[in-house]
Amino acid sequence: MCGIVAYTGSADATPILLKGLKSLEYRGYDSAGVAIQTALGTMEVLKTAGRVEELDALVAESDITGHTGIGHTRWATHGVVNRQNSHPHVSCDGEVALVHNGIVENYLELRTELAADGHTLLSDTDTEAIVHLIEMNMRAGQSLEDALLRAAGRLKGAGTFVVSARNEPGKIVGMRTGNAGGIVVGHIDDGNMMASDLLAVLPYTNKVVYLDSGEQAIITNASVIYRNGDGDVIDKEIIISDRSAESAELGAFPHFMLKEIHEQAERVASAMRGRVDFETGSLNLPEIPFTDEQIRNFDQVVLVGMGTSLHSAMMGATLIESFARIPAKAENASEFRYKNPVLNENTLVISVTQSGETADTLAAMEGAAAQNAKQLAVVEIDGSQATRMADGSLLVRAGLEVAVASTKTMTNTVVCLYMLAIHLASIRGTMSQEARKAAVSDLASLPGGIGSLISQEQTYKAIAERLVTRHHLLYLGRGFMFPAAMEGALKMKEIAYIHAEGYAAGEMKHGVNALISEDMPTIALAPAGPLHEKMVSNLNEVKARGGQVIAIVTEGDEIVPSIVDEVIELPAASEALSAIFSLVPMQLLAYYTAVALKQDPDKPRNLAKTVTVE
Ligand code: F6R
Repeated sequence: MCGIVAYTGSADATPILLKGLKSLEYRGYDSAGVAIQTALGTMEVLKTAGRVEELDALVAESDITGHTGIGHTRWATHGVVNRQNSHPHVSCDGEVALVHNGIVENYLELRTELAADGHTLLSDTDTEAIVHLIEMNMRAGQSLEDALLRAAGRLKGAGTFVVSARNEPGKIVGMRTGNAGGIVVGHIDDGNMMASDLLAVLPYTNKVVYLDSGEQAIITNASVIYRNGDGDVIDKEIIISDRSAESAELGAFPHFMLKEIHEQAERVASAMRGRVDFETGSLNLPEIPFTDEQIRNFDQVVLVGMGTSLHSAMMGATLIESFARIPAKAENASEFRYKNPVLNENTLVISVTQSGETADTLAAMEGAAAQNAKQLAVVEIDGSQATRMADGSLLVRAGLEVAVASTKTMTNTVVCLYMLAIHLASIRGTMSQEARKAAVSDLASLPGGIGSLISQEQTYKAIAERLVTRHHLLYLGRGFMFPAAMEGALKMKEIAYIHAEGYAAGEMKHGVNALISEDMPTIALAPAGPLHEKMVSNLNEVKARGGQVIAIVTEGDEIVPSIVDEVIELPAASEALSAIFSLVPMQLLAYYTAVALKQDPDKPRNLAKTVTVE
């Protein structure tokens, strides 16, 4: 994996490819490359084990120009990070160039077969085998699109492929098999594009088409043809995207992560706009595709997700179980996909995913579909694969998230799950009108509360600057605060590279207390609520063992501040909303710790924004 961009048209292709690759940098990568069909009729490849800027410099040194090209940013899966292993890969005769996302599971077998047939493979990658298969098929007289279709049929594992051949000038073919990331085709007036991500296409067009598994797009300057897995031409509906290219601008912020944290007060309001009626205390969620009878018949809800989305799913499960009284659980999608879970047509599976393209989450959805479960995607990216696999989608409306570490998408996702839980409860009659109205009216405090937390960021920054010397941190919470604690720890790990553990505070006596010492500070989530007293006991225990404690409490708390070392205050709120509020200072703590440690919070090492392979 990671980013793909391709262009054919009347403009010079390289600047478009480089700009596209730059816009995909946020996905995380280690190498970059382009292959251009030049004006002289040659296929030229420039690639580097480095940043897009280095590729840019290589392009500037060369005098390559051409109107058709493909580009890639690589995040290594097979083979070390070096120039040879980076994409595009080319055939023996150098005439076919390919970029690929995904994993070829039978690559060893294919490489051996190709080598025996006289092909010289120069890299250690799985990808290179594909371009040699295409070359073989083209030598047998097949067109580029048929050669790719035939080659894809030999591969095990999901993938997306974009290919170009010197002897088919002006043409690019893209294909998707399974769920290893998407391909979006951009219909431009003067040429056409393809990319792994809408962002690369948006500066040129908002008329887009997403490929489904097995489908191909064949683009030239003047035409776009779609084909199914049998090679038959098919019609695809052109979607008009309402995203804007400007949303990827930093503005006055030094990092996208900080910008996105700051956007949360406003974004959370967009998640609710048109969906919440504060006067009547009712919700309007027409995007939920299930009838009242189906909702009344649900006998379990399973939420699947990975990473931050799994933490949102955990909060969602608690909300749905407590409001709608349906047994609900959150499952790590990478585990769930290999289980043999009991699901049926009365199960609601909710996939929680910012990108809508996470390979494990999509595989979990495939498993759920095979058992006829009803499916809802709670997702940011409209048109993503998850939205196309689910029966319906609740869009979280956080706006484009560029930083690798999720912030605003989690906040909005939990708000959407909160609204969904109330919606299910209303239909199932499990919440009194009074309780429902109170739960709905609580939501009104979110934008202001988040805004006031962000206005205290200098306090969090000062605490963060004291955390930089620590190598281990413990995040503790109970109830809704347990997934919040896990999320706080994940943020710290992924961008500040400090080892952090999120724990259910009740677990402490069962092992973790052994680690408490002054070397491992505890971030304790102890807002007001039914579990406050229990947390107070835990904090006393940590203090009694010499641990340093930074507590996140509700404003006005007089007990916890008297026990702990430092305090961060949240606005008064219900337990569920306190969990949402607590995310904001923990995001800022991680952000300022990373900055103080001189790490780039937007591009954490070894991580990709969209994980399209398992
Ligand atoms: C962490 C983070 C990741 C994602 C995970 C799932 O900050 O962003 O843990 O949450 O990779 O991605 P999506 O939500 O796109 O399915």
